[in-house]
Amino acid sequence: MNKTIQKIFQTGKGILAADESTKTISKRFKVLGVEANQKNISEYRNILFETNNLNKHISGVILYKDTLDQQLVDTKKVADFLKENNMVAGVKVDESTEKFSKNNIELYTKGLDGLKERCDCYYEMGAQFTKWRNVFSVEEGVFPTDEIIDKNTSDLVKYAKISQESGLVPIIEPEILRDGNHSISETKKVFCKVFKALFKKLESEQVQLDSLILKTSFVVSGSELIYDDAESVANETIDIFENFVPKEIGGIVFLSGGLSPSQSFSYLASTVKKAKEIDFTTPISFSYSRAIQSNAMVVWSKNQTNEAKVQEIFFADTEKASKALGQ
Ligand code: 13P
Repeated sequence: MNKTIQKIFQTGKGILAADESTKTISKRFKVLGVEANQKNISEYRNILFETNNLNKHISGVILYKDTLDQQLVDTKKVADFLKENNMVAGVKVDESTEKFSKNNIELYTKGLDGLKERCDCYYEMGAQFTKWRNVFSVEEGVFPTDEIIDKNTSDLVKYAKISQESGLVPIIEPEILRDGNHSISETKKVFCKVFKALFKKLESEQVQLDSLILKTSFVVSGSELIYDDAESVANETIDIFENFVPKEIGGIVFLSGGLSPSQSFSYLASTVKKAKEIDFTTPISFSYSRAIQSNAMVVWSKNQTNEAKVQEIFFADTEKASKALGQ
């Protein structure tokens, strides 16, 4: 698992999150007027994976289970194709979300049943890491309750242990959602509660911290408010890391959470800069889906045969994400 961490956090490289569930990617296709069938989904993803020199900026790819299982690129399994191109294959192992309480806002994530067997199988198929996402909503002024924080952080820890037992580096993703009009300081309060509970449990359950990756949102205001300036985001985000995240974890990667590509790159650059200034030594990188895919997906939706143009736009956005890491 240490080797996997080293491969992922190579200088100037990050993760492509291409693990949208069929439901999620179908929604994105529909908005763009593209029929969301398996053929289109596979063809679109193949175009991304086969981008020339993708490994210049991308060290690992998170796949949806069907992609790891079925999809072929040049008659090769995707995991083998990525490996031959010096990228590490990972797989999303969480399943759909379910209502936790009557308010319709609090959700927990399913997927613990049979997880060990699935992880063993994914390992055999060439995966080297996994991802599990939980969501915490701050919408409509309803802050996550102690009960949902306990449930979701406990499940993240159970998942991390199982993944490590199968030799797969776990990426724990407690996403604090942006939907709503909460201020950056309200978001930060939620981060404090969630991260405190999460890292306390990870330590008491003796999860191997150096073989674990944290995937997190930036500390930002709700999406209904105007964008925060990059310096405030960096200050608040690094403050959370310093207070709650043990330095010995394998690394930290950011999700984009519906921020525009340029905001995602700018917040990443300012946060990495701040981390360097204060000698925060835990590796930091990106694990973006929308920030590096959305422009390419729009181009593809307009002309699905113009692969070269889609790949040019996609490569350019991975390059911007890489530059934000300060290389
Ligand atoms: P976004 O970068 O679009 O937030 O997606 C990252 C991710 O993996 C969400 O689970």
